[in-house]
Amino acid sequence: MGCPSHRSPNRLRSSRTMQNVPARERLQLISAEEPPSAGFGDDVAAGLAASPKRLACHWFYDEVGSQLFEEICELPEYYLTRCERSILEERAAEIASLFDSPATLVELGSGSASKTRLLIEAFLAEHRRLVFAPIDISETMLESSARRLLDAYPRLEVRAFAGRYESGLEHFATHQSSPRLTLWLGSSVGNLDRMRAARFLRAVRGGMESDDRLLIGIDLRKDRATLEQAYDDAAGVTARFDLNLLERTNRELDADFDLSGFEHRATWRDDLGRVESHLVSRRDQRVRIEALDLDVDFAAGETIHTENSYKYSHDEIDWLAGASGMERETCWLDADGLYSLNLFAPAPA
Ligand code: AVI
Repeated sequence: MGCPSHRSPNRLRSSRTMQNVPARERLQLISAEEPPSAGFGDDVAAGLAASPKRLACHWFYDEVGSQLFEEICELPEYYLTRCERSILEERAAEIASLFDSPATLVELGSGSASKTRLLIEAFLAEHRRLVFAPIDISETMLESSARRLLDAYPRLEVRAFAGRYESGLEHFATHQSSPRLTLWLGSSVGNLDRMRAARFLRAVRGGMESDDRLLIGIDLRKDRATLEQAYDDAAGVTARFDLNLLERTNRELDADFDLSGFEHRATWRDDLGRVESHLVSRRDQRVRIEALDLDVDFAAGETIHTENSYKYSHDEIDWLAGASGMERETCWLDADGLYSLNLFAPAPA
């Protein structure tokens, strides 16, 4: 399966000049006031009162959950990271060559920024300096990965934003000049339903100028077995990741979830084009959440819906670009055609 053909992008221009900044001044960390777990209690109360019960997947990523997610990315079944890395290894230089120096690399949800290093190195090989502007909810993660990057790359400046994506994008749209390449890797778009994905990307588009681009990793539709194994690995890491939501509720909201009373289940829904993750109650049980002064009853077999991971066909990717006010300019696939990396450009008005 190949990508549909798209026109080649023109080389993108910048008018910024080179500046040398002393090492200690190459890190700027901007913090939004909002604490990362604001709203967790309200969300748990609303989600467990709903029918069917649900918990939002963005609560996975406390310290334990973020560490488990790093482990998931290295699992043999979780092909997404491996495929995306292979595309970047092959194409980073080509991507960097699309931009006249110096461009700004903005990254949504950068985490440890391990794949981003491939692009950083390619941009630094092509241009004399680079501003990397990661946006992540975890300030600790941002700071430690920024320090590692600054040690490794003397010509790099990091302007990191700790907070919500929308606030970070707004900040960099006004404080970093064009051209900017925004990265949204890892098929994170798949955790939004298709309409919310288009709405979010329309907001990204709103902050873009004609020379800016969005590089977005999107996982492709494929056979059930590959997908279900990717989200329910043999070593049980994804199950621990899912169950950590209940542990987090125990830790932060003084709840008494018995983890052995729940199991992780991942199901491919071909009709909806998504893998659904659920925590299934193994028996009738009642859970006390002290901080919310709440008792929650579970019937045997009842589930908490914890995550959707949407998969896309090429037509659906083109739809997503169009619905966001953009067009897919280029698309790269891994050797097995499992995963896509796409360059979106603002559509002409
Ligand atoms: C972060 N996100 C794109 C991952 C996914 O594939 O939906 C989260 C994940 N959940 C289970 N495994 C990985």
